[in-house]
Amino acid sequence: STFRFLLSPRSAYVSGQVIEVGDGEAGNVAPADWGTPLAGRTALVTGAARGIGEAVAATLARDGARVVCLDVPAAEADLAAVAGRLGGVALALDITADDAGARIAGALPEGLDVLVHNAGITRDRRLVNMPAERWSSVLDVNLGSVLRTTDALLAGGTLRAGGRIVMTASIAGIAGNAGQTNYAASKAGIVGLVRSLGPRALSEYGVTVNAVAPGFIETRMTAAVPLFIREAGRRMNSLSQGGVPVDVAETTAWFASPGSGAVNGQVVRVCGQSLLGA
Ligand SMILES: NC(=O)c1ccc[n+]([C@@H]2O[C@H](COP(=O)([O-])OP(=O)(O)OC[C@H]3O[C@@H](n4cnc5c(N)ncnc54)[C@H](O)[C@@H]3O)[C@@H](O)[C@H]2O)c1
Repeated sequence: STFRFLLSPRSAYVSGQVIEVGDGEAGNVAPADWGTPLAGRTALVTGAARGIGEAVAATLARDGARVVCLDVPAAEADLAAVAGRLGGVALALDITADDAGARIAGALPEGLDVLVHNAGITRDRRLVNMPAERWSSVLDVNLGSVLRTTDALLAGGTLRAGGRIVMTASIAGIAGNAGQTNYAASKAGIVGLVRSLGPRALSEYGVTVNAVAPGFIETRMTAAVPLFIREAGRRMNSLSQGGVPVDVAETTAWFASPGSGAVNGQVVRVCGQSLLGA
């Protein structure tokens, strides 16, 4: 699966880094049909109403997965449209709710094969002006909820053996970013979580844990960045352009493949060789 991905146009925005591939003894299964490697599998994508999450859900559905699309109740109309278009199921739920893990498990009585933690927020402010609420909300959505729900779905047995967890870091979590101390801290936490949980989840549950670390991707999140910072973000990479959601989605689909059992504990930048975090 790794060579198929890296030697294809699907990895056009992935470059300039080391990816470790293990021996894959645990849970590496060549798909019967490489066109639909996720046939018969169920995938949950958080933050699926728009942006990168919507592209991830569409790409996993293309690969044959039954998709469960999760987003906040306020985005329910968009969420239902995405799920309907993909023949999937919508789950309107705030991922930071105390009972989020239990509600996801309740919606998936037959279990889950692919868990994509994509939901995320920014609340940018220089650290000196950062109210506590801006710090804690970003840490809770981007990191705390990921910890809690992952724990619940692994310990409760919802995530089946051979399963895949894909988390969403950022090059801001690798390099840091002025005005984004809260966001960078949350995403650096994801990098640490992937590295520590990966080996343990594979040996205890037969589940791999990896993360994408997007650079500048054209979505509503980056459209809100002030003009000059946005242009700099777009151009500070070897391709001199932003990536698009499908670049992150294809990387996620590679991690999610049954043939990617040898890829574990990796944080892969999707950034067009960005100078940040290089
Ligand atoms: N766009 C980029 O350049 C970029 C770069 C690096 C990392 N990322 C990360 O990629 C992910 C997706 O980003 P995007 O650009 O598509 O953002 P976006 O703002 O367009 O979409 C994020 C989605 O997450 C949902 N969401 C937010 N809080 C939630 C909650 N508590 N419960 C459930 N859903 C929630 C939102 O409703 C929204 O639909 C985020 O984790 C983001 O940090 C994006």
